[in-house]
Amino acid sequence: MNSETAEPELAEPNLRALLSTAGLDVEYVRAEGNTLFRRDNEGEEIPVLDCAGGYGSLMFGHNHPELLAVARRLLDERTPHHAQFSSHPYANRLAAELNRIIHRETESDEPYFATFANSGAEAVEAAVKHAELDRGLRLGELLGRIEASGEQARAAVRGGRAAVPDEVLARLGIEESAGEGAIEAVLAEITRRNALLQGKAPVFLALEGGFHGKLMGSVQLTHNAGYREPFATLGVKTRFVPEDRPDVLEEILENEGGTLFQLVVTDGLVQLTEHRHPAFCAFLVEPIQGEGGIRPLSAKSARYIQEFGEAADCPIVVDEVQSGMGRTGALLASSQVGLRGDYYALAKSLGGGLAKVSVMLVREARYRPLFELVHSSTFAKDSYSCHIALKVLELLEADDGRAYRRAVERGGALTSALERVRAAFPDVVKEIRGRGLMLGCEFRDQSGSGDEVFAGAAAGGMFGYVIAGHLLHAHRIRTFPTASATNTLRFEPSLLLTDEEIDRVERALTDVCGILRDQASHRLVTSS
Ligand code: F0G
Repeated sequence: MNSETAEPELAEPNLRALLSTAGLDVEYVRAEGNTLFRRDNEGEEIPVLDCAGGYGSLMFGHNHPELLAVARRLLDERTPHHAQFSSHPYANRLAAELNRIIHRETESDEPYFATFANSGAEAVEAAVKHAELDRGLRLGELLGRIEASGEQARAAVRGGRAAVPDEVLARLGIEESAGEGAIEAVLAEITRRNALLQGKAPVFLALEGGFHGKLMGSVQLTHNAGYREPFATLGVKTRFVPEDRPDVLEEILENEGGTLFQLVVTDGLVQLTEHRHPAFCAFLVEPIQGEGGIRPLSAKSARYIQEFGEAADCPIVVDEVQSGMGRTGALLASSQVGLRGDYYALAKSLGGGLAKVSVMLVREARYRPLFELVHSSTFAKDSYSCHIALKVLELLEADDGRAYRRAVERGGALTSALERVRAAFPDVVKEIRGRGLMLGCEFRDQSGSGDEVFAGAAAGGMFGYVIAGHLLHAHRIRTFPTASATNTLRFEPSLLLTDEEIDRVERALTDVCGILRDQASHRLVTSS
């Protein structure tokens, strides 16, 4: 039962109960800029500095006035929210603007075609679906060519214009035979071998620690076993690779491939040619792992991944759902480490904190127009979210990219503050990571702590939540741990972050570190 409303608790009551153990089940009633407001018992508003930033969806803060003005205008003008299966020039404009920025950042002019969606996981799944459609079509086209040339070889042998040499038979492990018998045996064998590869499930790759969503498909690409394993029967099987092990990628390239055989006739001889089986569907990569603990991909790893993608003909899906949209100083954080995506997924701040919108982008060389006829979503490409997203891009690009520069500068100032705390408490804070306004502060593991509260919280994966509860109630600062690495607190405030707010964060973390150093959980504040 919800004690405030006397209504039965039906909207994820278990989660609410869990949040309440850390004092995090507060209700926010208003939001503006970097501030969320809750009410105290007298009904007075209490401002809370929001460093969780809508899980990274609030680059411009809550209810940005210029975005609100667009939303208001659209509502006043009675924009048709839902006009599916008609012309959507604003969606096209949005795709064009995304392309313009991507071309600048990646120093390429290859177009990216856009498929709009509503959430990050949906954009990721659209990318993977497209990649599999493309793989299937590539495989089908190759098998079609192989079949046609097999027929030509058969006709040539039957017409006496070609013969099957012994080495071809030996290569395929066929007992000696001659004439029509030989070509039939060869055709049967390569058809059998090719069919085996055709029936093989595609290989999906993702990085250890990666997070790509929690829908039926995307959760199988997400490393956290707790999220993934209960649903393993429903989705694809992913091979998770460590970020810094090019040798693992080499081994995968070697072992996961496979050869498709084709017959060609040259100079009266039937010869075998080999093609690499398109075994790989997609390799999913976050330029900075968010949920996995704010871990930036190194330029070196980006290069290995890119080289693997090219060698294996494996499309790279760059998941910029959390790292993108200017947070690190560029629309694409991947462009800062030289990683070029065959696909990009963008979401979160694309909707300016007001619209639920995401986009999947595919580069022209891989694009399959058929995808437009086999994939769709009721709410995608709507006028409201496209116009808001257009305004978001306008805000990002204004004044020659002032917003990107500000993300770098504010992120730098916040990093310095976090680093000062780490330097003062190296026994408590393990590492500060991230770029721009996507930062993480990792605490040292407390599971061996003599303080039962800290040890218990650490053992139960609740450590970061307990610290977050204290920050909320003692310091009026909202943040969370990264959910798959709960010793790391995430800091993803908006561009509006002020020096005064950074000072508050520093003071609050200094207090937290003092409590941890003293192993004094009784000093934690869990309600206010
Ligand atoms: N990809 C990445 C890199 C994400 O961080 C997220 C969500 C998603 C995909 C899925 O997006 O929730 O809109 O479907 N990350 C959240 C987070 C859960 O903790 O920041 P979604």
